[in-house]
Amino acid sequence: FSCGVVIVAAGRGERAGQSAEGPKQYRTIGDRPVIAHTLDSFATWLPAGPIVVVIHPDDEDLFAAARLRLSSQAEVSVVHGGPTRQLSVLAGLEALEASGVQYVMIHDGVRPFVGHDLLERCRAALEHGAEAVLPAIAVADTLKRAADGRTVEETIPRNGLYAAQTPQCFRMQAILSAHRAANASGRSNFTDDASIAEWAGMPVVLVEGAADNVKLTLRSDISMADERLARHAL
Ligand code: C5P
Repeated sequence: FSCGVVIVAAGRGERAGQSAEGPKQYRTIGDRPVIAHTLDSFATWLPAGPIVVVIHPDDEDLFAAARLRLSSQAEVSVVHGGPTRQLSVLAGLEALEASGVQYVMIHDGVRPFVGHDLLERCRAALEHGAEAVLPAIAVADTLKRAADGRTVEETIPRNGLYAAQTPQCFRMQAILSAHRAANASGRSNFTDDASIAEWAGMPVVLVEGAADNVKLTLRSDISMADERLARHAL
């Protein structure tokens, strides 16, 4: 099982507000930056091969400091991202290409609680022949559309609806070709990689996501994550 990892962490994290610690992937939760937790989750999972972290050029120092806080040794290389998540992923995939890995897991740097059980479910699906694997959770809440954020226009039946998580996992060459084709056709705003796979005609297989594999988006998510780690340390 030859599998590389791309962790995207080049975003500016504007929805979490400004902080002296920089974008949210560098905020401290527990006793270490978010990105150090995320990286360790993959670095301590034995099947993981080379890891590429995609960062913003302004964050070199922040990432170097976070890297010192890893609790594991791993083959980690660093490349610079682009103005959208999609372009950051493409930069990571291109950096990984030379390693010749058969599969790739693409993960958000701001999901530090990704667990080995989820990685194992993804691996099993890939080894079972899936070209694209999406961890997802059935939507529990009733969904409403309100374009102006004030008045409900419609209720969207939640039946058959899933919330997408990462890592999204693929055959390396297939997703790299899909990304290059999307880029060549002028599309640069896909918000996840499974949607690029769908666009390229690849079948995307669901695996059960993990409830605690949350994406830290708002300032309140960061404090919740910090409290959670403090409870675990007791
Ligand atoms: O903001 P968004 O939800 O798209 O962020 C998801 C992940 O993608 C984050 O880890 C963020 O750092 C990353 N990202 C990136 N390059 C961008 C925008 C987001 O690597 N230009």
